[in-house]
Amino acid sequence: MAARSKIFVGTFVHSKTLGELEYLHDTVVAVDGSGKIVAVESNSSADAVSQKLGWTTDEVDVTTTKTAQFFFPGFIDTHLHASQYPNVGIFGNSTLLDWLNTYTFPLEASLKDPAKARKVYSRVIRKTLAHGTTTAAYYATVDVASTNLLADLCLQAGQRALVGRVCMDQLSPAYYRDESPEAALAATRESIAYIESIDPGREIVRPVLTPRFAPSCSAPLMRGLGGLAKERPDLPIQTHISENKNEIALVRELFPPESTGAQDDSYSGVYDAFGLLTDRTILAHGVHLSESEAELIAKRGAKVSHCPCSNSAITSGAARVRWLLEKGVCCGLGTDMSGGYSPSVLEAARLAALVSRHVAMGGDDKAKLTVEEVLYLATRGGAEVVGLQQRVGAFAVGMDWDAQLVGLSTVDAQGEVEGIAEGEEDGNVDVFGWESWPDIVAKWVYNGDDRNTRKVWVKGRLVHERK
Ligand code: GUN
Ligand code: FE
Repeated sequence: MAARSKIFVGTFVHSKTLGELEYLHDTVVAVDGSGKIVAVESNSSADAVSQKLGWTTDEVDVTTTKTAQFFFPGFIDTHLHASQYPNVGIFGNSTLLDWLNTYTFPLEASLKDPAKARKVYSRVIRKTLAHGTTTAAYYATVDVASTNLLADLCLQAGQRALVGRVCMDQLSPAYYRDESPEAALAATRESIAYIESIDPGREIVRPVLTPRFAPSCSAPLMRGLGGLAKERPDLPIQTHISENKNEIALVRELFPPESTGAQDDSYSGVYDAFGLLTDRTILAHGVHLSESEAELIAKRGAKVSHCPCSNSAITSGAARVRWLLEKGVCCGLGTDMSGGYSPSVLEAARLAALVSRHVAMGGDDKAKLTVEEVLYLATRGGAEVVGLQQRVGAFAVGMDWDAQLVGLSTVDAQGEVEGIAEGEEDGNVDVFGWESWPDIVAKWVYNGDDRNTRKVWVKGRLVHERK
């Protein structure tokens, strides 16, 4: 049975372009039983739109914004490790390569236990949905069964997801790696087939080719994955690139250009030589890319997932997002849990703004990203990074209703707050009533969190509600 149609009424905010948010007030958005937006009408009413669509009012659920509330597109987390969620905040003073060995590989390997995997994956899905993440590009683990379980749980919970079985057949501990390139490729195919079998229309979940990063993949594995990418031009690809200087040196050592046929000795050149630098490729980090690498990435149409929380926490560096954008590289945001300590894309947006200010303090004032820009990266930019820009990231007829209802607290004449969630004594973002809409949104970006994420929908289905 198709779900009921829904009508949303009130204020809608979404990105028009990188630098511009659109504020739609007194607007009605109608969503049909399949979760698609079928009307966006300003200066209208629920009744008028229902009538126009031939919907009778008793068949329709209506949600209306109150003061200091607005609908915003769901966030797209373009890079996170579902399997690392229990480690959020646990990284000490490590940097990438010792962080992987000390904290990460032991935890990921332990999720071979299906009960543990279920516990972790159920939580990470609930947690990210509660923070407004309607689409997530997940890395699971090397283990096929637990990767497939992650896809099952995303589908059940209704979170749109790219789910990747991690490929790694070298330079990782013997207890946690693919036994051979052939075994890695066979396991990858097995997981792809399973994920496609549970959601053949790719309505909610889809598989993604996932070479962990060049250092942990042998040349035959990289070649095999490049071949698979060619055989399946519909599959997205995700990996890490140029996150940390020791990692870059390692790639140079492992893949000298004479061994790959690459034009130069760059990290990007390695992925390119194996057919993995494509317009479906999501490259996480890109902190230390060279001019020529950024140009190659732009030419291939590969995308960058900017992970400011992780890049700061494990001291990888400050990615130059403005520079990438100006090179024509499409960018989105990633929490990169648990290199990043926060499950929140709103936090990633805030940190993207702050890190860009650190880049600016290095002498390039135009590096600063605005509130509008970081929210674009969190929604429309991210949608393009994961290849779903036709479906999600904004409010338009023909797109899916992947959205969040954001609610801030309002301060009354006595200085008391209203509009906070049940059971809370105080609001975390106070709106006094004299702020402009851009100021309200800026207050949300800089002080908001999951308390402000009141309801979340994916493809028209209510997937989270804060009581
Ligand atoms: N590089 C290779 N694996 C990882 C990972 O799990 N997290 C991060 N941040 N970088 C990586
Ligand atoms: Fe990562």
